[in-house]
Amino acid sequence: MFEGPCTEIIESMQAVITPNKDKEAAMRLIQSIVSQFGCPRGFWGSVAGLVMTYNPSNKERMRWTISLLGIRKNDRVLEIGFGPGVAIEEIGKITTVGFIAGIDHSEVMVRQARKRNAKTIREGRVDIKLGSVSSLHEFDEDFDKIFSINSIQFWDDPIQRLKELRRLLKPGGLIAITLQPRNRGATDETACELGKKIVADLEGAGFSQARLEIKKMKPVSSICALGIKSNSDTGL
Ligand SMILES: C[S@@+](CC[C@H](N)C(=O)[O-])C[C@H]1O[C@@H](n2cnc3c(N)ncnc32)[C@H](O)[C@@H]1O
Repeated sequence: MFEGPCTEIIESMQAVITPNKDKEAAMRLIQSIVSQFGCPRGFWGSVAGLVMTYNPSNKERMRWTISLLGIRKNDRVLEIGFGPGVAIEEIGKITTVGFIAGIDHSEVMVRQARKRNAKTIREGRVDIKLGSVSSLHEFDEDFDKIFSINSIQFWDDPIQRLKELRRLLKPGGLIAITLQPRNRGATDETACELGKKIVADLEGAGFSQARLEIKKMKPVSSICALGIKSNSDTGL
């Protein structure tokens, strides 16, 4: 899919660079942060987590994804690649008698997300695990909803991963995969093409009623590919 530098971050960082300072050094600093998004590590990984937390685009596409999921108070929800755990915090406010779990392979992100969700973790309503989307055997629960935001582009063999996620859903359960391409040169057309590819991957992984939603956003649209595990699905 896409792996190039994240223009969103570059633009916001450029805004704080004084024109007469050492621009090359500043660009190196920006690249240090941008290179972190696939698996944030160390100091720059923590900075990347802060950028994800406070970036208005991240908030907008997160709230849109949550609205598409139609989460109810007793739902059991799973997020893959939660970053700093902001969506888990938002959903925890809805699932007052439900449960939300997440898995992310970055230790730095797990630390930030656990801190952000400390209260609901203590209450037993949230579980945050360190691990890869390829190690889903960590979960034996059945979920009503599974989602992921700007993470699938980093997964190897997405169709296989989506098949494994289907097994974790209850019959009738919903999956939502959101992506806003932020590589240099990405356009609304890029977003739409990526969305169609994810819809095809959902179908390939056995989901029913796969469909694409598109949200016009600046500087580029977000897409969300949705699918359902049919009621007759035995999970095989
Ligand atoms: C660009 S960040 C997005 C974070 C958050 N979902 C958001 O929208 O702000 C991608 C996240 O996916 C996680 N990630 C990437 N590949 C992963 C994998 N194979 N298994 C688990 N987490 C993964 C990264 O560690 C990172 O926290």
